[in-house]
Amino acid sequence: MKKRYLEMILDNLKPHPNPKSNLEQYTMEGKLASEILFFAKEDILNNFVIDLGCGTGKLSIGAKLMGANSVIGIDIDEETLNTAQYNLKNLKNLEIINKLYSNDEITDIVKNIQFIKEDVKNIDMEFISKYKLYENNKEGNKAKNIIIQNPPFGSQKKYADRIFLEKALELGDIIYTIHNTPTRDFIINYIESKNRNITNIFQADFKISKIYEFHKKKFINVPVDIYRIE
Ligand SMILES: C[S@@+](CC[C@H](N)C(=O)[O-])C[C@H]1O[C@@H](n2cnc3c(N)ncnc32)[C@H](O)[C@@H]1O
Repeated sequence: MKKRYLEMILDNLKPHPNPKSNLEQYTMEGKLASEILFFAKEDILNNFVIDLGCGTGKLSIGAKLMGANSVIGIDIDEETLNTAQYNLKNLKNLEIINKLYSNDEITDIVKNIQFIKEDVKNIDMEFISKYKLYENNKEGNKAKNIIIQNPPFGSQKKYADRIFLEKALELGDIIYTIHNTPTRDFIINYIESKNRNITNIFQADFKISKIYEFHKKKFINVPVDIYRIE
């Protein structure tokens, strides 16, 4: 898979139909999503990917296309999950998908992604285990839990990002998580207080287009940090 193909596929997915500001339903652009997924590709390959706050399914679908053995996307909002399901079912109708994959491969992709409605605060290892379709990877080793998440920044509901980070650290063997750059000191201290190791941080711009009433500009670029945590 070439990065620009992944970007094209992800940009072809349907966005949030009715974005809710209190849930910070900002969809990531295909470019940033594919950069993160390529950065994470060795961890994704043959492992179980968990996308907390999956929204319309961009990171979940992208992770499966990058070789995850199965994926679960979790979101609290039913309307958003219906769009994620639509995006999954509609993959077979995208021209570029048909160029890159056989019908059998498309069927396999679709059947190994599950979108589930749940509040992230209620998720624990027992919940996750129910949806882990393969205990082992192709080499017969235990499939790792790889969290790839783009949580709310906590700008509408204070600390909304914290529960995502807490759950990611509880459930993930390896974690990729995105946070507002101004929260960097807090995030680093929190991760270290849980005895986890940050192996990489890279900075990017998260483009937010005008979708809510209170947005004044056509779009803004929000500086974000992407962390890889072991
Ligand atoms: C910033 S959006 C990210 C959407 C998607 N992952 C993406 O990158 O395009 C955050 C998502 O978290 C979901 N969300 C917010 N609070 C949640 C909660 N407590 N439990 C589960 N999902 C939640 C929202 O509905 C929204 O879809």
